[in-house]
Amino acid sequence: MGSLGLAVTSMAAAKPTPSLASSPSLGLSNEKSFASLHSSDFLETSTSRASFRLEISHHRRLPAELRWKPSAATLSGPVVAVAKPEPVKIMISGAPASGKGTQCELIKKKYGLVHISAGDLLRAEIAAGTENGKRAKEYMEKGMLVPDEIVVMMVNGRLLQPDAQENGWLLDGYPRSLSQAAALEDLGIRPDLFILLDVSEEVLIERVVGRRLDPVTGKIYHLKYSPPENEEIAARLTQRFDDTEEKIKLRLKTHRQNVEAVLSIYKDVIFKVNGDAPIEDVFAEIDKALSSVLEKKLRTDSSSMAAGMTS
Ligand code: AP5
Repeated sequence: MGSLGLAVTSMAAAKPTPSLASSPSLGLSNEKSFASLHSSDFLETSTSRASFRLEISHHRRLPAELRWKPSAATLSGPVVAVAKPEPVKIMISGAPASGKGTQCELIKKKYGLVHISAGDLLRAEIAAGTENGKRAKEYMEKGMLVPDEIVVMMVNGRLLQPDAQENGWLLDGYPRSLSQAAALEDLGIRPDLFILLDVSEEVLIERVVGRRLDPVTGKIYHLKYSPPENEEIAARLTQRFDDTEEKIKLRLKTHRQNVEAVLSIYKDVIFKVNGDAPIEDVFAEIDKALSSVLEKKLRTDSSSMAAGMTS
């Protein structure tokens, strides 16, 4: 699986190598380009104007036309500086059953971000039988938010783990209240993009009631919209304890009470998508937005590098 890091290390006055930084093939809507840019392959170079070093993840998996080819001139000088751009950070939000988990599966597969779902972390605590899990379940059964003293530490701790720091993250269902957003702001954690799935309430109820989960693969199904591929999978599907019509109504109420406050914090990076369309169509919209964010980020990183090298 790919990740989104294109790490550039630089030390003096030079511009990024044009064959990578300005390659028309590196249109970031190209699945291969981002899925293949990863950690730990190193290319070193210097030009007559300056020196720099590019670290490109999984460079060898790039299509030949996208690979950076150093010229004889670029191979002759020393390496001078180091500057590594930050990985991409995405939040995804929406009412219960709006399709967050479904879209996260697709985003993760294509972009290699670390998927961090607050609901999944809480269900893992419940399954492990911890004290936090026992307390969390009482709130989840009532469709209420689990108290911050449990959720905030849990999510912050996960965000700070090395895989999320190195590969970038996709935060699902968090923050869900002003206090949770404020806790992230205090740590200086902001997303590059805040995806908001917009789905009407009648649709949400039908989605919740028909949702099933595969305990073996973790895949999300729906009896009508995304049915299991075969009888064997169908036989092992499970239903979440809070997926009843009665509980979804409580969950929706909680969502309505908190959503505006959270949106107010991220209004500069919100991307609202109609989530009431087929799964692939919703993903196509998200994919476009993500590609454009990544392209912008790459350009900014390249210009910062160039500025750093000329100053
Ligand atoms: P959580 O697990 O996060 O639940 P949720 O927000 O209610 O969202 P869901 O997981 O139910 O839905 P989803 O949007 O992921 O939809 P999915 O892709 O599965 O939270 C559970 C509880 O934990 C909360 O109620 C709260 O108590 C607690 N909690 C969580 N986060 C917390 C926080 N930050 N603070 C405090 N407490 C917290 O899709 C649903 C169904 O629809 C599936 O069957 C799918 O196949 C289908 N589907 C998806 N997209 C489409 C489509 N486009 N067309 C047709 N069908 C579709």
